[in-house]
Amino acid sequence: MRIIDAGFLRSVTGIDQRRPLALPEVCFVGRSNVGKSSLLNALAARKIARTGATPGVTRLINLYTITWEGEGRRGRAILSDFPGFGYSKVSQGMYEGWQAMVEGYMAGNEWIRRVLWVFDMRRDFDRLDAMLLEWLRARGLGFSLILTKADKVSRGASLERQRAFRRSLGQEEVFVFSSKDGYGRKEVLFHVARALGKATS
Ligand code: GTP
Ligand code: MG
Repeated sequence: MRIIDAGFLRSVTGIDQRRPLALPEVCFVGRSNVGKSSLLNALAARKIARTGATPGVTRLINLYTITWEGEGRRGRAILSDFPGFGYSKVSQGMYEGWQAMVEGYMAGNEWIRRVLWVFDMRRDFDRLDAMLLEWLRARGLGFSLILTKADKVSRGASLERQRAFRRSLGQEEVFVFSSKDGYGRKEVLFHVARALGKATS
């Protein structure tokens, strides 16, 4: 898969502002500062989403439209970049606020084909991650875990992390990725293409 065109569409806070667009969608969710916007830029091979060292850079749900091409097919889709949760001390309350917005956006959004749960591979799941996991499962949202910042650890260690997360989640869709050196980019793109392809075939 290749993304041949990509651009910012609009920022939204709920499903109503998204609704008229009958395009398949892949959502990027996860904690603050883990590299959601960087992943989106790396996949699109363009800097369309703002990134930054300070947590909380993305505050609204930012929608991007892409045109992709691959395996003899071409299609349009939406990539949605979510604000991060859980960087402040009042993280439980903040998580609940975050979840209410995400809930409002995802409930009844029949265009979502996959949720990419972006996770800093140097961390372990804590209470907030467990809450997100439970919520995704309760909602029946298919998700894939993208373990970012692979350039910060050795290759062997990152593959060990991948195995550990596969075991604990009981699913194969766990990817190792680095937006710094592009490691894993092809696999994640292929995965996204498959999710989107299901919608257009
Ligand atoms: P919020 O919008 O605040 O929730 O953050 P985000 O998850 O969108 O993270 P963002 O992409 O803005 O990246 C946060 C910081 O991590 C930036 O300084 C990035 O340059 C850095 N970063 C992101 N991905 C990687 C990576 O794979 N490796 C390394 N070394 N740094 C990364
Ligand atoms: Mg961001």
